[in-house]
Amino acid sequence: MNVQRNVDLKPFNTFGLPARAKYWLELDDAARLPEVCTLPEFERERVLWLGGGSNVLFDGDYDGLVVHMANLGIREIKRENGKVWLQAQAGEIWHDFVLKTLDLGLSGLENLSLIPGTVGASPVQNIGAYGVEVKEVIDSVHCFDLDSGRFVELSNAECEFTYRESIFKQSAKGRYVIAAVTFVLNENFVLKARYGDLAAVLRANCGDRVPGARDVSQAVCQIRSSKLPDPAVLGNVGSFFKNPVVSASDAADLLAEYPDMPHYPQADGSVKLAAGWLIDQCGLKGYRIGGAAVHDKQALVLVNQDNASAENVKDLEKYIQDCVKKRFGVVLQAEPNWLR
Ligand code: EPU
Repeated sequence: MNVQRNVDLKPFNTFGLPARAKYWLELDDAARLPEVCTLPEFERERVLWLGGGSNVLFDGDYDGLVVHMANLGIREIKRENGKVWLQAQAGEIWHDFVLKTLDLGLSGLENLSLIPGTVGASPVQNIGAYGVEVKEVIDSVHCFDLDSGRFVELSNAECEFTYRESIFKQSAKGRYVIAAVTFVLNENFVLKARYGDLAAVLRANCGDRVPGARDVSQAVCQIRSSKLPDPAVLGNVGSFFKNPVVSASDAADLLAEYPDMPHYPQADGSVKLAAGWLIDQCGLKGYRIGGAAVHDKQALVLVNQDNASAENVKDLEKYIQDCVKKRFGVVLQAEPNWLR
């Protein structure tokens, strides 16, 4: 195994923060995970398992071993009653995988088109967009358990998925390396277009024609590209904050003052608010600290405008949190992981 030293991490985090890894290993075969655990660098150093780097922020150099999961491959596991179980290796690029499922005539992932990152990262924060969360189509997650040194299969229920959360970010943080994910997809397409502007864009694009999975994917790509910056052009990690969830009574108080506030009642009686709207209302679109800025089209996204430092991003994060807390009494929680 080829462990490299002092590797530049800038190309491996979509925000483009400057950082270097003390040690770096590219892993293209998940079966070799037990071998990784016998490396002297693994035993001696702290270890980061990195996918597409679209949800991490480096607060300086990584003083340890970074293992880049680059294992590729997709295989059909079984087909039953109109459902297809498809397993994808962790290193597959998410959007390429979505397109491959469409090529195979399968649906279920089309609303999640164009999300940056890899298949292996998708269960970690239960990626979601346009009315679909990935937990709805995950059957199980194939992991290497660092505690037992064995491969295990976690069922959907065992992953404890909630909004932008899972066991991988919570009680089992650091325990499992995600090697592959099995999805249950549909042979027959079911349209999910209740969210936001999706139905309107589909109507405009398809007219009277009944839309298919590929139409949904194209419409989602169109909406995302109009609002969200392309990380290859302008560094970012997608939504920087989670949409905050408040009690029904706090939401009612806010709605009395701001009747137009977007709000999404949840099954348990709580209410989810739109962090982007809250930040926008504070007049922060385009606000900049050093090289880091609030995106001018979507206030929920912070961008690397010009060689941002980790310090710039941290200062901007804190400034936004303070403004929103002061104006609305709502606490915003960052979505990406700061690696310190
Ligand atoms: N809004 C504003 N100003 C802004 C941004 C948003 O007024 O600058 C308002 C919008 O008009 C809308 C509401 O806030 O009424 C919600 O905005 P939007 O529909 O754009 O979605 P979001 O809540 O900002 C969430 C996800 C996105 C996902 C979209 C579409 C989170 C944290 N973010 O954003 O996910 O693509 O819905 O489903 O849940 C990501 O996680 O990286 C991500 C991009």
